[in-house]
Amino acid sequence: DQQKLELIKEAVKSYPDFPVPGVNFKDLFSVLQNPPIFAILNEILVKTAKQIQPAVECVVGLESRGFLLAPLIALELQIPFVPIRKKGKLPGKVKSHKYALEYGQDIVEIQEGAIKPNEKVLIVDDLLATGGTLNAACQLISQVGGNVASCLIVIELLDLKGRDKVSSPISSLIQY
Ligand code: PRP
Ligand code: HPA
Repeated sequence: DQQKLELIKEAVKSYPDFPVPGVNFKDLFSVLQNPPIFAILNEILVKTAKQIQPAVECVVGLESRGFLLAPLIALELQIPFVPIRKKGKLPGKVKSHKYALEYGQDIVEIQEGAIKPNEKVLIVDDLLATGGTLNAACQLISQVGGNVASCLIVIELLDLKGRDKVSSPISSLIQY
């Protein structure tokens, strides 16, 4: 698998100084535009998710690039896909969690009833940077009675130490 992960890493394009000077942006879309590499990524994500014990019962994807990956896993495992979105995008009754950004704050939401009491949840996203988004998602899932069994991330930016903010186990496939 190490060779396959290396192929994925080679396919991730970097964009220096995007969206602001000093940020070296890692772009998941370059992987999705490369079908053989996308297939490898899918295979590894599904395999990793299937190995989690006890088995996860639901896959939560984080807006927006988590939405490209989480449903692939949910479909293969035949368990529900549930979205966490930024404020005001989900219809019906929602539960919200407010979290601090470097400047200001943001709110993430989940639909009421989407997670069953004590359900074992896998959270999926493309990238872990400061960990603010993933930590907020974990808090929101706990708030609605779910149990975050594990988090699965494609790209981890190690310098930012995002994992220190999150109390649930995290697996990342490639690291910078
Ligand atoms: C990116 C990325 C993660 C988050 C990681 O999403 O896809 O969700 O940032 O950053 P953090 O660890 O510092 O919280 P972004 O905020 O760009 O949202 P988008 O996918 O909706 O554009
Ligand atoms: N890529 C995608 N999303 C991000 C990044 C990145 O490099 N950094 C923070 N969010």
